[in-house]
Amino acid sequence: MKNNRRDFIKLAVPAVAGITTALSGIAPAFAGAVSEIPEIPDLIRDRGPQKFNMSGYAAPKLETVRIAFIGTGNRGSGAVQRMSKIGGVEIKVICDLRPEKANAAFKRIEASGQKPELVTGNPEAWKKVCERDDIDLVYIATPWALHAPMAIYAMDHGKHACTEIPAATTIEECWQLVESSERNKKHCMILENCCYDFFELLTLNMARQGFFGEIVHAEGAYIHDLLAGDFSKEKYYDFWRLRMDASRQGNLYPTHGLGPVSQVMNINRGDKMDYLVSVSTNDFMMADTAKKLAATDDIYKQFVGKPFNGNMNTTTIRTNKGKTIMLQHDVTSPRPYSRIHLISGTKGTAQKYPLPGKISTGHEGWISEEEFKVLEKKYEPAIVKKVGELAKQVGGHGGMDFLMDWHNIDCLRNGLPVDQDVYDAALWSSIFPLSEWSVKNRSNSIDVPDFTRGSWKTNAPVDITLSKGGNTEVKL
Ligand SMILES: NC(=O)c1ccc[n+]([C@@H]2O[C@H](COP(=O)([O-])OP(=O)(O)OC[C@H]3O[C@@H](n4cnc5c(N)ncnc54)[C@H](O)[C@@H]3O)[C@@H](O)[C@H]2O)c1
Repeated sequence: MKNNRRDFIKLAVPAVAGITTALSGIAPAFAGAVSEIPEIPDLIRDRGPQKFNMSGYAAPKLETVRIAFIGTGNRGSGAVQRMSKIGGVEIKVICDLRPEKANAAFKRIEASGQKPELVTGNPEAWKKVCERDDIDLVYIATPWALHAPMAIYAMDHGKHACTEIPAATTIEECWQLVESSERNKKHCMILENCCYDFFELLTLNMARQGFFGEIVHAEGAYIHDLLAGDFSKEKYYDFWRLRMDASRQGNLYPTHGLGPVSQVMNINRGDKMDYLVSVSTNDFMMADTAKKLAATDDIYKQFVGKPFNGNMNTTTIRTNKGKTIMLQHDVTSPRPYSRIHLISGTKGTAQKYPLPGKISTGHEGWISEEEFKVLEKKYEPAIVKKVGELAKQVGGHGGMDFLMDWHNIDCLRNGLPVDQDVYDAALWSSIFPLSEWSVKNRSNSIDVPDFTRGSWKTNAPVDITLSKGGNTEVKL
């Protein structure tokens, strides 16, 4: 640890009315709560040896995967529908605080013959759902502050957990996810759907087959203008996302850009993140927007004067093998959407944004569309060959959401290791609080915790061959 600042920093704990955390040592998530937690360098300390290695762990096969969904707003209701198209899935519970959201999710699958129980109206009801003995997998698509408490509670009650991104918002939560997964031998899968986007899958396969040579540097991003959505009264339940933007700093949503490049670079599986530095601009838009809206609508007064996250955050990570990853986060500026997805190796380069994705092998420029098509065919990933077209028909961000759900279920049904395990969930999510610390400390470097506790040296890369499993039905 190279940082010399030992003072306490105040981190805002995200707001969800009426929820107490299921965890000890994690700040409670009451509405508007701001709690003091020790500065991060104290929290990334050694937590002792790994109890059990979940990387590559094959849980016992489940012929039928019985799922409980928690949180069926914008995102969760789509997941319910996608899962109803996968063979060997039984949807047992749809749980949302708001009855209308659980009902709406059910309506989307009514014709499928699934008969879930709807659990609604009580902010703590999800605990009873996790305690049931007729559930195998808890699928979480609630506001960020609830992901880790729910996933840990689910695993501690003998369930596998899938969680939307980020899986955690503090380093303590990241460690508790790891410890719960290892303790219970239950998977904690981070639902990083961008790892299954077609261009990202293609470049992963090309990297595996040596097309780019040694990967030297990668870039990823979440550049998505959400300003109107954040301030909308309808889009996010109780302004949960705006509350985050109004209280936390740095890269709050790192995993869309980071997940795919981490897989290409075999992070946690041959290499590991060593340290990072992070720098943010000021906020030039959110505080102004809050002020303007509050002038005519009292509901926005609660956001006036809040410490909004800067427009742009840039974080650079160095790995133990001497490679770098640059990540950006901007959810307010009026820019075209981008996750960048740049892979730079000793023999070639790929870059997805601005669309369409491009490949190059030299300084002269990108290869032609025709040449790209040839490469696309040659390096077509096994999962795309198998269910790519079906996934496009089911949909969900062009099919990638379905590929993710299908493969997660296929792994559980065949007793195979999952692609994005608890170490990925913890590591990719940890960039949020680590970047926050660096931003608040004049971009000082900060060590990235090794959640694998040394097993990264021997963990096998994610198996993308589909040589096992791949037999789960798609029901159109
Ligand atoms: N991977 C992706 O591409 C992608 C896209 C959109 C959203 N997301 C993620 O999905 C998650 C949900 O986002 P969203 O856009 O659906 O938000 P949302 O506000 O529409 O949905 C969240 C739901 O959680 C419910 N909820 C809140 N507290 C609850 C509790 N205690 N018990 C049960 N239900 C509770 C709310 O009623 C709401 O319906 C977020 O983590 C977000 O980052 C991911």
